Amino acid sequence: MTVELTIERLGAQGDGIAETVNGPVFVPFTLPGERVGATIEADGTHARCDAIFDESPDRVKPVCPHFGVCGGCALQQLKTSDYLNWKRELVVQALSSRGLKVPVEPVRPVPLGSRRRATFRLERRGQDVVLGYRRARTHETIDVVSCPILSPSIVAALSDLKRLVSPLLGGHNEARIAVTETENGLDVTVEGVQPPETALARLAGAAEASGLARLTAGGESVTLAPPILRLGRARVTLPPGAFLQASAHAEAEMVSLVCEGVGRSKRVADLFSGLGTFSFTLAERAAVDAYESDTDALAVLSEATRHATKLKPIRTQRRDLFRDPLGWQELKRFDAVVFDPPRAGAVAQAEQLAKTTVKRIVAVSCNPGTLARDLRLIVDGGYDITRVVPVDQFLFSSHVEVVAHLTRKRRVR
Ligand SMILES: C[S@@+](CC[C@H](N)C(=O)[O-])C[C@H]1O[C@@H](n2cnc3c(N)ncnc32)[C@H](O)[C@@H]1O
Repeated sequence: MTVELTIERLGAQGDGIAETVNGPVFVPFTLPGERVGATIEADGTHARCDAIFDESPDRVKPVCPHFGVCGGCALQQLKTSDYLNWKRELVVQALSSRGLKVPVEPVRPVPLGSRRRATFRLERRGQDVVLGYRRARTHETIDVVSCPILSPSIVAALSDLKRLVSPLLGGHNEARIAVTETENGLDVTVEGVQPPETALARLAGAAEASGLARLTAGGESVTLAPPILRLGRARVTLPPGAFLQASAHAEAEMVSLVCEGVGRSKRVADLFSGLGTFSFTLAERAAVDAYESDTDALAVLSEATRHATKLKPIRTQRRDLFRDPLGWQELKRFDAVVFDPPRAGAVAQAEQLAKTTVKRIVAVSCNPGTLARDLRLIVDGGYDITRVVPVDQFLFSSHVEVVAHLTRKRRVR
């Protein structure tokens, strides 16, 4: 059904929202104030914008030729200041929905071309293969030839990569290709396929010619050069599939905010430490205990610790912090605690933090909703939120990274 709609506001996913007699209708790629001709989809709550009759004065030219077709970016058509305000407001709303009315600083932006990690889809299409992202609101893959948010070295490799990994599809129709830029070239992992034993070895020459550091598929790898990254004063060799912050620029902002939050603390717990993104810089000033459930990540952290110089001690411990969080008494031996859980948040750990006497806590999260839930618990335990800083790690998407500082204001036990 084709209708005329007036967009009233932006939703949390970046879609324009029009109010109708049947309730709100979400119209991707539109802006508040715009009058649009749109086709309502079968679900009755989404619509495709067919024409814009009155354009918003805040509309700008998108930076990517795929914008509006590709499902990767939600909001490139809005001028930068309003876009950053929208992101900040996502954090404000999440916190206030838990009754946390605290000042939220302006969003720290990241530059175009700074994303060092992305996951693509490889899909068989008749005789052809396409490599790219999902088409907006479909399961179909579109061939991507340019992506301005990605590091240029990843974009430059896309067509080689498609040729290189296509044979690994075998009898499968699709696979996921995770690509990370490292000091020695791209680290590429093909997921969802089980190539025959010799398939990877046969691709080694072509992979090296395409500048890959490592190619992994079906649990096997060929390493052409060690995929190395610098974390603070340490150099780590990336294990296949390990977590890494998506943008080095955002990571640098987060590390600096984490260090500011920890201040002059002498003993710091780094919970959900991963490879040691925060541990290595924190250890320039404090002894660090790093806790993490991923054995490979911890092994890399320990190994890099042995070779890094001029650092205070870093101790590592494997621990499932969902099932077995550090208890409030265990936490008491630290001056500061940093926690950076996956999107699900860290409710069990937050319950223990709420009861402890640690002076400073720094929360890092890529999910404002679970962050707000966890912060609510900690604040109810007697902590003040002193600072909240969003970082635009996931440019043009509805995702946002947040760093929050807390200090203990009163003893509860
Ligand atoms: C958002 S990442 C942060 C990693 C690290 N702080 C960084 O900045 O690179 C979350 C980390 O939590 C780890 N993790 C996931 N579930 C966990 C659990 N139940 N217990 C401990 N660590 C867990 C993941 O392996 C991952 O390294």
